[in-house]
Amino acid sequence: MIVCKSPAELERMRAANQLVARVLRDLGALVEPGVTTAALDAAAERMVREGGAVPAFKGYRGYPATLCASINDEVVHGIPSSKRALRDGDIVSLDMGVVLNGFYGDSAITVAVGRIAPTAATLLRVTEESLYCAIAQVRIGGRVSDIGHAVQSYVEPHGLSVVREFVGHGIGIQLHEEPQIPNYGPAGRGPRLLEGMVLAIEPMVTTGRPDVRVLDDGWTAVTRDGSLSAHFEHTVAVTSSGPMVLTALPQDPARPMADAARYEQGRAGTPSR
Ligand code: MF3
Ligand code: CO
Repeated sequence: MIVCKSPAELERMRAANQLVARVLRDLGALVEPGVTTAALDAAAERMVREGGAVPAFKGYRGYPATLCASINDEVVHGIPSSKRALRDGDIVSLDMGVVLNGFYGDSAITVAVGRIAPTAATLLRVTEESLYCAIAQVRIGGRVSDIGHAVQSYVEPHGLSVVREFVGHGIGIQLHEEPQIPNYGPAGRGPRLLEGMVLAIEPMVTTGRPDVRVLDDGWTAVTRDGSLSAHFEHTVAVTSSGPMVLTALPQDPARPMADAARYEQGRAGTPSR
């Protein structure tokens, strides 16, 4: 069953997701060569708790940290480590969730460490743009599979691959609710989108083959071919005035897509149902 949220519930979800967005923004500003992923995790946990929230990932199925920090060929679920310092030219995915007032927020960004290679920069740009293509499919009466179809159709012509083993998800009073949201496949399939549904959309893209494997730590997913991977995630509500990106900050800099301004928080209007 896919749970639809009332306007009052969407306001609470906005609060949780805005906290996630602020923490990710501030973590992104801390990223530089020499910083360890454990230091980023500690900063994340402090900011989450100062915001009156609880880290959502810590303890989830035994996950040991607040943050997932996935470097270069790591796709998702990289465990922060004091032995892992960021290096010039790396890319690092920062994925974080919180629970605030009973509702979950979830978002991810991938950022450059110092100066990165052109292929890495293209990977970041195309992956983030594919997320905005996906968000553009979020409308009442649309279908869940329209989202993944948009990601795949945008990514593959750039010579990049979409990871298949991990999916986006509904989110609300649980971190993972129905439906699952693959980032590939045909359009026009799966459940219809209804007002008040909230979806965490999270394309994962590689510069090589799409295949991944999980390391012996039981969490870290890496590309099998060692190629680079990027990951961006927004939590988005289905509203009568279009997609409401709960994890977009009002003061976000210009989005990568020319028409992305209309997804800025606030433009989609107050939730109504
Ligand atoms: N954004 C990811 C997800 O929604 C991160 C989960 S990490 C875990 O699945 F530790 F919570 F599993
Ligand atoms: Co998620």
